Amino acid sequence: MSEYDVIVIGSGPGGYVCAIRCAQLGLKTAIVEGRETLGGTCLNVGCIPSKALLHASHMYHEATHNFTKMGLMGKSPSVDFKTMQEYKSGVIAQNTSGVEFLMKKNKIDWLKGWGKITAKGEVTVGKDVHKAKNIVIASGSEPSSLPGIEIDEKVVVTSTGALELPKVPKSMVVIGAGVIGLEMGSVYARLGTEVTVVEFLDHITPGMDAEVAKTLQRTLKKQGLNFVLGAAVQSVDAKKTKATVNYKLRKDESDASIDADVVLVATGRKPFMDNLGFDGLGGELTERGQIKTDDQWRTNVDGIFAIGDVIEGPMLAHKAEDEGMAVAEVIAGKHGHVNYGVIPGVIYTTPEVASVGKTQEELKDEGVDFKVGKFTFMGNGRAKAVFQGEGFVKLLVDAKTDRILGCHLIGPSAGDLIHEICVAMEFGASAQDVAMTCHAHPTFSEAMREAALACGDGAIHA
Ligand code: FAD
Ligand code: NAI
Repeated sequence: MSEYDVIVIGSGPGGYVCAIRCAQLGLKTAIVEGRETLGGTCLNVGCIPSKALLHASHMYHEATHNFTKMGLMGKSPSVDFKTMQEYKSGVIAQNTSGVEFLMKKNKIDWLKGWGKITAKGEVTVGKDVHKAKNIVIASGSEPSSLPGIEIDEKVVVTSTGALELPKVPKSMVVIGAGVIGLEMGSVYARLGTEVTVVEFLDHITPGMDAEVAKTLQRTLKKQGLNFVLGAAVQSVDAKKTKATVNYKLRKDESDASIDADVVLVATGRKPFMDNLGFDGLGGELTERGQIKTDDQWRTNVDGIFAIGDVIEGPMLAHKAEDEGMAVAEVIAGKHGHVNYGVIPGVIYTTPEVASVGKTQEELKDEGVDFKVGKFTFMGNGRAKAVFQGEGFVKLLVDAKTDRILGCHLIGPSAGDLIHEICVAMEFGASAQDVAMTCHAHPTFSEAMREAALACGDGAIHA
């Protein structure tokens, strides 16, 4: 039997970051992981593999659509999907082995296997019982399907199966126009699949700025994705190599169906707690089945904390990481803090979409008096040079104080550009602060400054 200050259950971005920070703060730490490799959903079957396939398919799209426009002539590349999958696996391996290296470097024990909390302060892995003063649950999430749909990860797949298809399908129906549906739908549409996205709501990407969502849908449509909106999927009839998706159009209750080689069910994810033992100790959950915590990530069971996808909040890797660091600080007797008002969200389509803070719709509902500063990438020389002038930046600021309340953009490198506004918001900055900051030319970031200028006397290139 071994004894630790902290045992972290789960090695995703929440768990492994927490373990590293615990070790850095001088706590004797172990991490429990049941998968073959460390890194959780994010590194193994989430963020990292999806971004590898997005990158490869984007390169293919550029080569087949934009190269000749720039005078780059020659035979167009063709897709060798097996090699593309090998590239993706290589990227995963580099990252998961990187986390393993970090565990060793920080002297964190990897307890291999599925962990169960068998008593307060006790985690059992296989036959081994380990004691810990503190336990951090970072067990993550798993895909949630719909009633009447059976997943076989071959014809009817979740994101996990969609990342591992043996070949590029001729046709694909994506159920759900959320982040996974649009990212994976983009990958396959670029590789030549006829992709149809079926969404329950009348718009894509729920919760996102409505104008950004419309622009994204229009751009994806141009890239070949088809959309059926306002359609509630009822069932999927799967055969060996095909499936039929049956749905009801909400506007007139009419029934319709659509056939495809592969159906991707991307209707959200749910917390994962199988055989964890938390319920056996009287562990409290929220109404939505997440582990309930206070503002210091303590559960109702003494000495047990929880972070990441298994608790409330956006299911994002960086949110899990921030909580991982903060909970380690709390355990070490320091002050751990996460500013939930400044957590960026990014969709890695082309163009990328990014947002932080309040949306225009939320501010209206809350009765806040705000100003909008907007700037389109058409006025940004660099964006036009890379065929990405279609998007825009929208900055939302308090009408009286000019303080930045939110930012929503669609355009080149949006996922990187948003952090300028995250930092500004952390410092309580005004649009004028951003507008008065010199931005290098020619960069995409000039569009951020122009949006800030548009909150005052006006953008220059509008
Ligand atoms: P997870 O990463 O889910 O890790 C939990 C780990 O705990 C797992 O490895 C699991 O095996 C292990 N575990 C669970 N129970 C036990 C147990 N009892 N014993 C031992 N081990 C256990 N987020 C982003 O921010 N950006 C993105 O681009 C992005 N892309 C995504 C793409 C896809 C296809 C998917 C599915 C998700 C994506 N996400 C993205 C979401 C992101 O992956 C999650 O928010 C993040 O992984 C959550 O981290 P976590 O540490 O809470 O849990
Ligand atoms: P999601 O919650 O983003 O989207 C699910 C979509 O399915 C919604 O639009 C919903 O209206 C729709 N839907 C639900 N029931 C339906 C039905 N019966 N018929 C038709 N449509 C239906 O969930 P998604 O895309 O599965 O992603 C899960 C999580 O993973 C997200 O919370 C996200 O944060 C995370 N993720 C993040 C990424 C990123 O940061 N880039 C990338 C991929 C995933």
